[in-house]
Amino acid sequence: MQIFLDSANLDEIREAASWGILSGVTTNPTLIAKEKGVDFQSTIQEIASLVDGPISAETVSLDAEGMVREGREFAKWHPNVIVKVPSTPAGLKAVSRLASEGIRTNVTLIFNSTQALFAALAGAFVVSPFVGRIDDIGVDGIQLIREIADIYRQDPDIDTMILSASIRTPRHIVESAMAGAHIATCPFKVLEQSMKHPLTDSGIERFLADWKARQ
Ligand code: G3P
Repeated sequence: MQIFLDSANLDEIREAASWGILSGVTTNPTLIAKEKGVDFQSTIQEIASLVDGPISAETVSLDAEGMVREGREFAKWHPNVIVKVPSTPAGLKAVSRLASEGIRTNVTLIFNSTQALFAALAGAFVVSPFVGRIDDIGVDGIQLIREIADIYRQDPDIDTMILSASIRTPRHIVESAMAGAHIATCPFKVLEQSMKHPLTDSGIERFLADWKARQ
């Protein structure tokens, strides 16, 4: 399973990329808005210069025409740009139009497996089920990943990837992988938490103490 960073913060992206584990980046309007005073296009282009992989940029139109217009524009910014559209009937229309023009899409805000099936049939490159937000309402988010993986596996014509999104904990990464996700997009904080273990820290301390005390 691949790891993407869910962030528009260039420092975080630079740091995570330097670990050698990043295969792509996802952004959304909330993450872009958090980076005060930055221009959307130049942020996406800067990210694309730091990470050689799919970079999701999200449309804000509600109608298919608007999504297609925005998507065509984003696709000119960099060949690695993936156009993110919401899982709505208008989003499906935009996906099928963009796909026919060779523009890759990420269908986001997926909360059930029919949404994921329809996005794949419309020609989505990836779908983004929101694991954490499903857990937040007391339902099992990982179960949705499992269902989508089962459904996609049954149709050899589907090559849409499952991008597990709204990741809140290192456990979500592990369980997404085991449930059949191709990608997990993670906030930087979750990447840091994933590398933290008290036995690693105490092990380093012990090795250093023994090294210093050697004869
Ligand atoms: O980028 C979409 C998704 O990962 C958002 O996560 O934490 O806002 O539910 P969250």
